[in-house]
Amino acid sequence: MNRPFLKTFPNFLSLLLCVALGISFAGGALHAQSTPGTQPARAPFQAVFRLDGGDTTYAFGVNERGELQQIYWGGRIGASDTIAPPKSNPDWASFDSSYNNTPQEYAGWGTGLFHEPALKVTFADGNRDLVLHYVSSFRSDEHSLDIMLKDISRAVSVTLHYRIDPATGILARSATIESHEAKPIMIEQAAAAGFALPPAHYTLSYLSGRWAGEFTLNQEAVRPGQRILESRRGSSGHQINPWFAIGKNDAADIVDEEHGEVWFGALAWSGSWRITVEQDQLDAVRVTGGFNPFDFGYPLKSGEKLETPVFYAGYTHNGMGEASRLLNHFTVSNILPEAPNPRPRPVIYNSWEATEFNVTEAGQESLAEKAAALGIDRFVMDDGWFGQRKTDHAGLGDWYVNKEKFPNGLKPLIDKVHSLNMDFGLWVEPEMVNPDSDLYRKHPEWVLNFPGRPRSEERNQLMLNLARQDVRDYVYGFLDKLLTENQIAFLKWDYNRNWSEPGWDQLPPDEQKKVYVQFTRNLYSILAELRVKHPNVEIESCSGGGGRVDLGILHYTDEVWPSDNTDPLDRLTIQDGFTYAYPVQVMMAWVTDSPHWLNQRSTSMAYRMLVSMQGSLGIGANLNKLSDADLSTIKRLTGAYKQVQKTITQGDLYRLISPTNGSEFSATETVSTDKSQAVFFGFVHSTQEGRTFPRLQLLGLDPGAVYTLSSIEGNTVEGTPVVASGAWWMNHGVNLQLKGDFQGAAFRLEKK
Ligand code: DGJ
Repeated sequence: MNRPFLKTFPNFLSLLLCVALGISFAGGALHAQSTPGTQPARAPFQAVFRLDGGDTTYAFGVNERGELQQIYWGGRIGASDTIAPPKSNPDWASFDSSYNNTPQEYAGWGTGLFHEPALKVTFADGNRDLVLHYVSSFRSDEHSLDIMLKDISRAVSVTLHYRIDPATGILARSATIESHEAKPIMIEQAAAAGFALPPAHYTLSYLSGRWAGEFTLNQEAVRPGQRILESRRGSSGHQINPWFAIGKNDAADIVDEEHGEVWFGALAWSGSWRITVEQDQLDAVRVTGGFNPFDFGYPLKSGEKLETPVFYAGYTHNGMGEASRLLNHFTVSNILPEAPNPRPRPVIYNSWEATEFNVTEAGQESLAEKAAALGIDRFVMDDGWFGQRKTDHAGLGDWYVNKEKFPNGLKPLIDKVHSLNMDFGLWVEPEMVNPDSDLYRKHPEWVLNFPGRPRSEERNQLMLNLARQDVRDYVYGFLDKLLTENQIAFLKWDYNRNWSEPGWDQLPPDEQKKVYVQFTRNLYSILAELRVKHPNVEIESCSGGGGRVDLGILHYTDEVWPSDNTDPLDRLTIQDGFTYAYPVQVMMAWVTDSPHWLNQRSTSMAYRMLVSMQGSLGIGANLNKLSDADLSTIKRLTGAYKQVQKTITQGDLYRLISPTNGSEFSATETVSTDKSQAVFFGFVHSTQEGRTFPRLQLLGLDPGAVYTLSSIEGNTVEGTPVVASGAWWMNHGVNLQLKGDFQGAAFRLEKK
């Protein structure tokens, strides 16, 4: 086939450009200096940067044009291996320029770029061409690196921040964009980072869902063009979670749990976000993630900066299972507020499903007494305690204690809870307001809206514009007062709708879209300030279930509520998907009533308990209605859970049998990091006579150690040894006795 015009000397023009700009090709220095706002200084030629952590090496460098080009991302290479400096890929044809074919670390939209740029701007004079070249680097330690890029002529610079975690090899990347142009520039698109993979057959995994059906794992081939994972909702959202994994495999679009190369990542941003997975015209793959460019516009005046969120990304050659273990350990030891050693979550009781809005002092105290008798650590009063809140039609925004329900304030209830040896938690929904509230009557201008346009209500509520300083101060103020005046150990921070009419008319028109950034920044700053002032208070991120779960919010919150759907069978799938991206440590899992209020499924208390014991356990059932037998099952299994909770919530998780796609069986196993304890669970949906539960060959044990098996609930088949080597449990495996509908079993192994 004839190519229209294949250039013989692809670098000639680049060479001319560099000569014109005074860029030297002679050097090798890593620290060519430049001041923002000046012409690019002498850019280095043949610079290579390398970051090593865990089993991973990430390398990139400056190519002959001065662009920052990715060289390698994969298994760790030898310390003495020499990495050649990058050289741009040639033009493929006159339609596919070298600029398009070369994997840049952070590509500006310019020079005829057709694939997803990391940064796109419009200058005051209408120029929209942005070509970023290397200026300088700064290495603060062997795991951290900053690289400054600058446009070839305009005073716009980008500092790329890199940090690799020495334990897991997970890379944290973000960018700071700064303008010193005389007139404001408009940023229309800003990614945290772009990652590149060479041509191969890849399978993309991502998590999708909806309210009451979050975190479903999807896997599909990466095909030519873009696959966009995003939220335009103003928060991370139930629909798609800001996480991805890409496995390299043969033609089958399934990535093995324990084998094969996987690249994965998660965006730390709780506002609208986008991750674009793109197979380009030469089959190379790029992943670009950051602020969602839809309706985005962030002006920078001279001297102003925009910080992007952080995009975390890692690599393993041990399949999806190891990808999630790495990310989950990283989150526990680097992201969570109590990192590196968060304590296992207190076992909570939450009154929502028992009482809904009908909370009273007497009713809550009675539930608290019953909860304490079960071994619960924390009693949480949910929605309904404040303002004129009797249904979801009124009260949000009025954060005073409702005197009809609590005539003497919260103190009597909190004292009662403390006398029962539990701590006290409270539900709030700080960013929302009901039109039927004193707050809205006083400040109708405080909500997100476009003046003169209808204000769309969802669940009878509107969104406060948290980007406004006065709203931010109000929200911080009432929360601080609540926590100062009451002995509250825990806030369940809810958020029950997505954005509509995202106007911010107090600002000039060209600045109003800053709301997408400033809202989330103010949310984070409120959380951060509260944690400093009230260091013993823990916080849960809830958004009608799992609508705001991401590594951004997890920096400020200790746990999340994965779904309002607490049906145990549905939860098996939700929990399975959740654990690909987030640790069990933060995955709250309540046991609620049967038949379930959503899907009317009836299940035994033991089954419900076992499903929730795979996460951070909570009880949300109506304790006034449970039988003595059910109460004693809760008490017994809660006691057993506490003995192994640290292993379950912070150990290495192995998904032995997936519950997805209508599977009649499922199983998980978690091994403590020192391999001294393991806990495994098995579940059946509905068995068919003649089809027994598959033998479970355990994983991750010490093969040479000896482990003792004991039952938490349920039985193994006759003849199963009590004491055997790790090698036995992993190679021979263990057979469970599980038959019937919605049955479960759980066992522990202790190293002798
Ligand atoms: C949605 C949450 O997910 C529920 O657990 C409960 O807190 C309600 N909101 C209260 O309105």
